[in-house]
Amino acid sequence: MISVHGFPESLAQAGALADALGGVLSRVETHRFADGETLPRVTAPEPHAVLYRSLHDPNAKLIETLLTADALRRAGARRLTLVTPYLPYLRQDQVFEAGQALSRDVVLPLLADGFDAIVVVDPHLHRTARLEDVAPQTRWIPLSGAEAMGRALAAEDGGAFDLVVGPDRESLQWARALAEALHLPVWTFDKKRLSDRDVSLEAPAGAAAGGARVLLVDDVCSSGGTLAKAAEVLMALGASRIEAAVTHALYDSAAALMLEEAGVRALRSCDGCLHPSNAFPLAAPIAAALRREFAL
Ligand code: R5P
Repeated sequence: MISVHGFPESLAQAGALADALGGVLSRVETHRFADGETLPRVTAPEPHAVLYRSLHDPNAKLIETLLTADALRRAGARRLTLVTPYLPYLRQDQVFEAGQALSRDVVLPLLADGFDAIVVVDPHLHRTARLEDVAPQTRWIPLSGAEAMGRALAAEDGGAFDLVVGPDRESLQWARALAEALHLPVWTFDKKRLSDRDVSLEAPAGAAAGGARVLLVDDVCSSGGTLAKAAEVLMALGASRIEAAVTHALYDSAAALMLEEAGVRALRSCDGCLHPSNAFPLAAPIAAALRREFAL
């Protein structure tokens, strides 16, 4: 038997995972002291306990997650798995400028020490070959959101798009997966990051978008700068309609407005990070991965 433990903000996703696994859903309660410290409390776990917590907006959640792991073990969990669709602090995967921290190498081992296995969705692995290389003390189970996006989009009206575009070379893996699911051509921009919110994009020689209904695909939408610039360039190339699909939606309402003004008519995301754009449920692929991994 398995129990899935969720915090109030993402109890719906934890519940969907518990249902998909045929497990029991349990709510983690958190007491907040006057000085700002927090104390999570769990109800008795099954021998295999799964803690569901997406670690976007991570700082406070990281401490609570580690404390909850300790609480679950003390309450009797013998195997402890963390499901964190969004794994934070991977963008700082090297010291880019003197005086900076190497965040990835601080945060990943902390999490890995607390759990026997960790499920993540589309971790930002641009310069990190394998999560095991950074934190070998746990079993990392990486998944892609492209499967959930592709299945949902293919089940809709098959003729909604003419072309799939990724905003940078790293996005080719997701763009290609969706292009295959929808039987469409695909290409990606070449991206140069200018600042936290600004990028420059170059379309490949001969890339065409004239009259096309384009599906833009990426792993993350954070400031919205990347997808907004991609939409602007695609509109200039003559695209007739632009929608976007991302695994992790981290953007705020100002970015949503900017995306709309740039020409993005709709943006849909996987439901790992709670967001108004959530449209692609991850419970089934996460449950399938856990069943495969632990022969459940
Ligand atoms: C970058 O490597 C990622 O794949 C995304 O393109 C990036 O994180 C998007 O960030 P933003 O929305 O801030 O441009």
